[in-house]
This record gives sequence, structure tokens and C-alpha cells, in this order.
Amino acid sequence: MTTISDFFGSEPSTSVVLGAGTALFLVCCYVYDLFYGTNKKKFWRTVPGRVPFIGHMHLLGLDLGKILPKLYEWADKYGQEDGGYEFHVHLGRVPVVCSEDRFLELSKYRPFKVRRDPHFSESFRSIGAEGLVTAEGHCWGNQRRIIAPTMNKKNVEDYLRNMKMIATRLIDNWDRRTEDGSSVIINDGVFAMMADILSIAGYGMDLDFINKSDSVLGQDVLHLLTASVFRLMAPFPYWRIPLVGQYLDGAGFRKDRIMKLIGSYVDEYTGNQESLDETQRRTFLGKLFESMKDTKSKITRELMVGNLMTMFMAGTDTNTQAILFCIWKLAADETGLQQELFDEVRDFDVASCTHEDLTTRLPKLKSFMHEVHRYYSGFPVQILEAIDEIVLGGKTIPAYTPFLILMRYPSINKVNPSKMVPIGPKGEQPSEFCPRRWLVTTKDGALSAMTPNTTNNCSFMAFGVGARACPGRIYSEAMTFLTIISLLQRFQISLEAGHEPIFPVFMHIDTVNRDIKLQLKKRSETYVPPSFTGIGPENP
Ligand SMILES: *[C@@H]1O[C@H](CO)[C@@H](O)[C@H](O)[C@H]1NC(C)=O
Ligand SMILES: *[C@@H]1O[C@H](CO)[C@@H](O)[C@H](O)[C@H]1NC(C)=O
Ligand SMILES: *[C@@H]1O[C@H](CO)[C@@H](O)[C@H](O)[C@H]1NC(C)=O
Repeated sequence: MTTISDFFGSEPSTSVVLGAGTALFLVCCYVYDLFYGTNKKKFWRTVPGRVPFIGHMHLLGLDLGKILPKLYEWADKYGQEDGGYEFHVHLGRVPVVCSEDRFLELSKYRPFKVRRDPHFSESFRSIGAEGLVTAEGHCWGNQRRIIAPTMNKKNVEDYLRNMKMIATRLIDNWDRRTEDGSSVIINDGVFAMMADILSIAGYGMDLDFINKSDSVLGQDVLHLLTASVFRLMAPFPYWRIPLVGQYLDGAGFRKDRIMKLIGSYVDEYTGNQESLDETQRRTFLGKLFESMKDTKSKITRELMVGNLMTMFMAGTDTNTQAILFCIWKLAADETGLQQELFDEVRDFDVASCTHEDLTTRLPKLKSFMHEVHRYYSGFPVQILEAIDEIVLGGKTIPAYTPFLILMRYPSINKVNPSKMVPIGPKGEQPSEFCPRRWLVTTKDGALSAMTPNTTNNCSFMAFGVGARACPGRIYSEAMTFLTIISLLQRFQISLEAGHEPIFPVFMHIDTVNRDIKLQLKKRSETYVPPSFTGIGPENP
């Protein structure tokens, strides 16, 4: 099987990943230069130590593991007064937004006066993922209205049975592979699980990528994801070269293959839209037709295909990393957290549970998950661009000013602790990781977990805030719940003895820096895991 690590060279892929990430970052900065280098008006404090031509690049270095910490350090030192600071690369200036206030101001301008960095959208679009993520302005509004409901609570309920089946399949797979007491590398398995569930939920096809790791489609998705990162890094959009451009990085054939397949599902559904069977109606695609009918609006065939691609591209890697961070924290924990969570999930009946049960009956797990999301996952950096004149912190900012946004910094920094993040039960500050942070005791003495508020609130940025927040949040959280419950019910987990340190590395998203090798100890030899079959409609 070709895996992400194979793609970058055999393990440990860290240095290559770091290199790729660094290049990505520098190229983004370079693109700034190209387009915005002439825009010299300064509005925030500049980091000292600027050198002609290279700007501050010598201070940033080439190790991407260290670039984000450096940007955070500068934010601590120079960004507190204005909620922003500036540094230079080559000839260009990069304004950085690093406070809750500035960020909230900026997000009010979305999506009409402030948009996503066009280079990001262009590379995403070039691999076929033309949809909600890349759309801006009115185009976005229309799609959002149709697509967001397909992932709401009620609809996620319909995907739940298959999510349970796939999560259990992954744990079964790990069970088999560790019968002889060996440890198991979990990264690829979690990725396979996400690819599986997205294609079942998307259009009702069971890839079984977990079992059939050589599945062409699964590999295509992996390669396309990697290609999208390369394209983001590329100094010029080579994929636009007529005829051959799309195929220079090998992504073209894969993209064609996936889009053809997805296109055939879209056509099948379109042809039968009045007579979809129950299974089909319970897919993202089926619900898309329902939603178009409900909202009396339409999106084109191209956008349906593009949004299914988007679901794949945006949903596999991000969720994989989020679940890996959860498992890592549990396996490495020495504070009794794993036992505490196990006690909570021990008698939880996965087979019959509803989405409501997941979010209300497991407060400790819920709090832990939110904290992992707050602290580790999502997009730590985003590039936005003002396309119109805007006012920020009382200063007028000209049109076509790009911003680097430190998305997570306001929530986790030490010097100006967020006022929006709840303090932990033992006084844990926002800068600490505290799995019990989101727990509250209700009036009748029961334990419950808050749902982080993302309306005008920067305490929790994993899924974005405001209008452009990710509509897949409920879906993503449900999948995380189910994976962790199934894992803990069956095994006591730990990292393989002498495991190399694990930490997040910034690529386009935060990623675990290496393969996670888990040692799995069965909790009970007599435990009978729930079994789920088929992708049909009837709920157990
Ligand atoms: C996956 O493969 C294993 C062993 O090869 C088999 O026992 C299991 O039933 C398969 N699972 C599915 C869902 O096909
Ligand atoms: C932000 O959300 C958190 C919980 O999600 C809440 O405790 C806090 O009060 C909110 N802050 C504001 C200003 O709304
Ligand atoms: C989040 O906070 C806003 C005000 O900041 C409030 O109107 C909204 O009801 C809150 N949402 C939740 C889910 O608590």
C-alpha cells in the first residue's frame, strides 16, 4: 500500500514533512511578495532585526517545527499592543493578526470584504475540490444554504450506524494485528477509516479501505491530498500549463479517476432523484437533493462533484489528525485520564446509541475531545486577504492587504490569557492542556460538558468561527466519539516502550510528527464487540 509516509520516503518521514512544510510556508510568503510586495504602508509594530532583502527569514530558519513557535514568540513580544505585528520576507511585508479582538473584527468582514488567500483556493480547486471551501461571496452563500443542512444533527444521525460499523471495523483490524502481542502503527488505519466513512456517507459506497489497503480509490485520495500540498507550495501554478499541466505531478490521472467515479454517482442520483431508495436518501448526496428541494435552490453537477471531492479532501486528513492527537494524548497520559474515561464509556451501548447520547451522556470524553481540538487540531494558521478597504483596530487598511492569522494563539498564549477560555477545575490557565476544562456541574449535581461557543468567540478555533465555520463539525465530533469509545471499551492502550516523542508539526494543518505505535492490551478476553453489517437503512 502506498501511504503518506511512503510518499515522502520511508519512515520517519518527519524531516521531509518538515522540509515540505517549510517550503510551503516560504512559498506562501514569496507569493505575498510577488503580489503584495509593493504595498508598503505599515500599520503595526515591526519585528526588529530586519536584514535587507531577506527580511526576517534568517530568524525564522528552515525548520518548520520551529517557525510557528517563533511566530508565537514574536506575538508575545511585539503583538500585544495592537493585536498584530509585522515581519518581512524578501521584499514583502507580512502583517500578522494575533489577538482575539483583531480576529473577531476581521471575521465580521467575511465573506464579502475579506476572503481566503486565493492561492490556497486555487490549489484546492485544481485537484477538483471546487466547492464550499473555495467559494467566496454570494456563490458561497448559496452553497452554504444547501450544503450545511446535509451535515446537521438530524442528518448525522442517519450516518451514525455506518460510522459505528467502520469504527468497529478499525478496532477489529487492530485486534487481529496485535493478537501476537506486537504493537500496531495506527496512522494509516485511522486515515483509512476516515476515507471509508466518507465514501459510505457521501454516496453509499463501501470501499473497505481498512481491509483492502491497496484500494485504488483510497490511494488516489491519499495522493491527491499530497498533491494539493505540493501545489500550494509551488512557485507558479504549473497545473495550468495547457494539456500536460495537470499531469506533471501525477495528480491529474488520479483526479480524473475519482471525479469520474463520483460523477457517475452524481448522475445516477440525479437520474433517480424522485425515486431514491432509503439507503441512497441517507447519504450526503441524497440529502443534497432533498436540501435543494427544501431550499428551492440548485447547484450545478460540477459543484456537486466538487463538494463531494471537498468532503474527501477536507474531511480525511483533518479528522485523521484530530483522532490521532486524541489517541496519542490518552496513550501518553499519566494522570489516570484513560481509566477515568474508560469508567465512563465502559457500559455505554454503542450499538443502540443516538447522536444525542454521544453528546450528553459522556461529559468527560466530550470535555477531553474539545480540549484536544482546542489545543492541537484544526488550522493553526490561516491566510486571509482584505479585498476592500477595512477598518481594523481603528486603522484603515487598504484593499488587497493579506494577513497571516495565528488562529490558535489567542486561545493558548501565556502573556495575554484568553478571557474566553474557561479556567480548569484546578485553576488551569488557557495556556495549559486540561482535559477536564470543559466540565461543569449542573444545578442538580450532574456532570456535564460545555459545548465551546464559536459565535464571536475565539476560545475554540478548531472548526473556525462565525459564518465560515466548518459545517462538518457535528459529523467530525461524532466520528471521534465513536472511535475513542470503541477503542477504550476493548483495549487499554499505551505507547510502545521507548517510543520517540510525538508532537504536532505544522503542514497545511497540524500533523503528528511520526508514526504512532500503540501497544494494545485487551481489557477482557470475554468481551464481545458489537457487530454491524451492511450499509442498508434499517437502524439496529
Ligand atoms: C477484513 O479482513 C479480515 C481478515 O482478512 C476478515 O476476517 C474480516 O471479516 C474482513 N472485514 C470485512 C469488513 O470485510
Ligand atoms: C466563549 O465561550 C466560552 C465557552 O465556549 C464561554 O465560557 C465564554 O463565556 C464565551 N465568551 C464570550 C465573550 O462569549
Ligand atoms: C454563544 O454566544 C453568543 C453571544 O456571544 C450567544 O448569543 C449564543 O447563544 C451562544 N451560543 C451557545 C451555543 O451558547
